[in-house]
Amino acid sequence: MLEEKLRQLGQDHIVKLLETGAGFVSRSEIEKDLKEVNIPLIRDLMEGRHLYQEPALVQVKPAPVVPASFSTSPEAGPYRAHGEDLLRKGKVAALVVAGGQGSRLGIDAPKGVVGVTPVTGKSLFQLHAEKVLALSRKYGRAVPLFVMTSRVNDADTRDFFARHAFFGLDPQDVFFFVQGMLPSITLDGRFVLSHHGGLFMNPDGHGGTLAALRKNGCLDIMRARGIEEIFYFQVDNPLVSICDPLFIGLHNLQGAKMSSKVVRKTSFDEKVGIIAEVDGKTRVVEYSDMSDDMRYALDAEGRMLYWAGNSAIHMIRRDFVESLTSSAMRLPFHRAEKNIPALDSAGNPVEIRGIKFETFIFDALPMAEKSVTLEVIREHEFAPVKNMTGEDSLETSRTLQSELHKSWLKDLGVEVSDRSLIEISPLAALEKDDLASRVKSLPAKIEKDMYIQ
Ligand code: UD1
Repeated sequence: MLEEKLRQLGQDHIVKLLETGAGFVSRSEIEKDLKEVNIPLIRDLMEGRHLYQEPALVQVKPAPVVPASFSTSPEAGPYRAHGEDLLRKGKVAALVVAGGQGSRLGIDAPKGVVGVTPVTGKSLFQLHAEKVLALSRKYGRAVPLFVMTSRVNDADTRDFFARHAFFGLDPQDVFFFVQGMLPSITLDGRFVLSHHGGLFMNPDGHGGTLAALRKNGCLDIMRARGIEEIFYFQVDNPLVSICDPLFIGLHNLQGAKMSSKVVRKTSFDEKVGIIAEVDGKTRVVEYSDMSDDMRYALDAEGRMLYWAGNSAIHMIRRDFVESLTSSAMRLPFHRAEKNIPALDSAGNPVEIRGIKFETFIFDALPMAEKSVTLEVIREHEFAPVKNMTGEDSLETSRTLQSELHKSWLKDLGVEVSDRSLIEISPLAALEKDDLASRVKSLPAKIEKDMYIQ
């Protein structure tokens, strides 16, 4: 019974409101919210168990990284060929985590619908879907796309894909799955009442991907389709090189369970996690969890010691997800204090300080016996859209996208004015080499904005 469940969790303030029949509290909404929730886990979290522990600095050192220069060396050839082979054999799926809303960008819709490309303003979802389509054409085998949504944006996300005819993908190759939710709590451990009459819940973090893949039957679908490897990325990065064969090949041939791409941090304070080796295990130390000693540490030459920024691009073996989700293992929960819109005990809207619990996918890294970390050139693969203005904004991302495409044209001998914005559709070229065959059909000189499709 609901009241009993609430009492067990020490939530007598909600029981009292239910008993007095307060109009702003809805029994059915609260029941719905709690149905999804693992009650013993909530109790554990409130009592401080399963929480992330910051590693002691003495145990930490930089992780070994395959440098970006490797990609152009002759040794890279066999790895790239192996990755291409896996794509041709249909053994790789793409997975985008898109549970977030575009609120930081000023829109109340899934972040993936935000228009980001420099000339045509294509949405993140369109761009990613077109890359997946281009890959499927290039390797002659469909690459299934798994899209993780949250309760807040699942319907809007499905609707967006449907309204745009899945951007040319076969709907049979696109799978939406919803991540879990957890109740947020006040600083003294109480559930928070939300405007809809239920509890204020937050998505369980992108670490929730693992459990959600199992719960929604995605692992079964992958197994049935012969998928062995998952290329994981965040919805907010338009420059992501989806299913990069070199990364797939390196990770797979070296027998890694989970691998990561890193980019050089631009400053000590940049808001990216870093990849480090802690007690002999590769892991991400998130920027918010990093001590100043670690953040500002220098190497013997006086350069940034922890420069390997987490681009949030990973390769994950399907059987690694299966083993993690079939055991009692748990990713640690990170506790974040946030402002939460709530109702007070009289039903008035208020903003309170509360705690959200989230798990992060990269906390699975230390559980992998083997992991490869590959450095990629930042300007080639990383231009996230996080903020309205300034760093990692729409503006900086559009410029970076245009600059990259401009450099492809220039390398092929096309003269491009500094003022022009350039956008190359993934369907025209996924990488510079794909464009070489088309160079004769391009103008020798480009002076206006241009979209190449
Ligand atoms: C994240 C990484 C950081 C990395 C940076 C690179 C975390 C905690 N940190 O930071 O290490 O260097 O990206 O850009 O992730 N998402 C869900 N469900 C959730 C939470 C997030 O799907 O419950 C998705 C979002 O839609 C987004 C992505 O995960 O695509 C990242 O989340 P965000 O909170 O923006 O992380 P950052 O702080 O930018």
